[in-house]
Order: sequence, then C-alpha cells, then structure tokens
Amino acid sequence: MTDFPTANVNVVDHPLVAHKITLLRDAATKPAEFRSLCEEVTLLIAYEALRDLPTATRRVTTPVAETDAEELAGLAPAVVGILRAGLVMVDAILTLLPQARVGHLGMYRDPQTHEPVPYYDKLPSDIAEREVILVDPMLATGGSAVAALDHLAAEGATNVRLLSIVGCPEGVEAVQGAHPNASITVAAMDERLNEHAYIVPGLGDAGDRIYGTL
Ligand code: PRP
Ligand code: URA
Repeated sequence: MTDFPTANVNVVDHPLVAHKITLLRDAATKPAEFRSLCEEVTLLIAYEALRDLPTATRRVTTPVAETDAEELAGLAPAVVGILRAGLVMVDAILTLLPQARVGHLGMYRDPQTHEPVPYYDKLPSDIAEREVILVDPMLATGGSAVAALDHLAAEGATNVRLLSIVGCPEGVEAVQGAHPNASITVAAMDERLNEHAYIVPGLGDAGDRIYGTL
C-alpha cells in the first residue's frame, strides 16, 4: 500500500480517530453527525500535523511566580480550505487557532475528466509569510490538492501542510510528485481509487454528505 516515500506523510493512528472514521464511512450517518465527526477528526489530526509549529518563549507572571512560557511565534498561520468540503475543516482549525487568517479556494471535480475546475480564490495577501494549513477531507486523485498547492506556491507560500481525512496512494503520489516539500497528514490511508476516481472504501462524496446534497 505504501509505494510512496513516507517521510512527509503522517497517518494518524489513534483509536478515537479510527472510531470516528468508521462512523464517517457508514452510509447511514446523516449530515449533522457527519459534519460534527469531520470537525472532531480534524481537531485530532491537527494536533499531530501542527506539532512542529514554531514557538518562542516570553516572560509571564502567573498568580504564583514569573516564568518563561512558550507561545506560537511569528505571524498567525493561514488556514486555506478547498471548497466546498474543506469548510468544515476550516471551522475546526479555527477553534484551535482562532487567530488564524482564512483563505478559500473554490474548485470542483469535473465528473468526466476528474480534473479540478477552479471557480473562486481569496487568500490573505501576506500568505507568503505565514505557515499554511491546507484542508480538504478527500485526497483522491490529488488533482484538487495539487491545484491548490500550485496556487499557494504561485502566491509565494513555502511552508504548507495538507490535512485530509481520507487519502489514498494515488493522491499522495500526485502531491509528492508536484510538491515534495508539502507535508501530508491524513486520518486514514485507503486502498485505491475506483473507476469513478472515488476512494475505496472511502466515505463517498464528502461535500454531498456534509451538506446533504446527495
Ligand atoms: C471533492 C473533495 C476534494 C476533491 C478530491 O470535492 O472535497 O476537493 O473532491 O478529489 P481529487 O483528489 O480527485 O481532486 P468535489 O470536487 O466533490 O467538490 P465539493 O467539495 O464542492 O463537493
Ligand atoms: N471526492 C470525494 O468527495 N470523495 C471521493 O472519494 C473522491 C473525491
């Protein structure tokens, strides 16, 4: 299953994540619960994906003593969501990092070619100076993630982490081929794509399940 270099790929192995992924996979899970689960899984994998965010110390006075304490250094990160499905993950990241700036990249997969079709973009103007957290629940062919990473690179972003809920080898290989420096964190690494470029076993169409547009 892992024919790709694993150095930049983190598959979060945790019973809570596994349990929630199983609920997400279940076709009987309704949109409200599906959205909540996506947010919860995002919180859990973000904890791992953001482990190496730069920090600095500053002097603080507790009610008891003075101490040197750690805090996030530099400009707040930017979280960039690939629309539509990435929006639920943006909201989850904002609960962890309320100071984050938010970017949006709108694209949908053409049903015949499976290529991403861009329709919107709005990024923080100083994105080149920020750590970037790119979020999209599904890393299937990798076309959407690569298009987003291309756009971010063109805007000067250099430190980009991709967070997805479900990935597959094809998507990871596409991202690694185009953007070898981008780290990838997923909650599950599935087997393969089917003939419609859906992840197997996957969880179906994430956007449709999140927004009830099946
Ligand atoms: C889904 C998903 C990703 C993309 C992944 O979006 O949210 O953006 O497919 O597939 P890929 O790796 O093959 O590019 P979709 O195009 O269904 O749009 P939506 O989020 O608006 O439903
Ligand atoms: N997009 C989805 O939402 N699900 C897949 O399995 C593949 C692409």
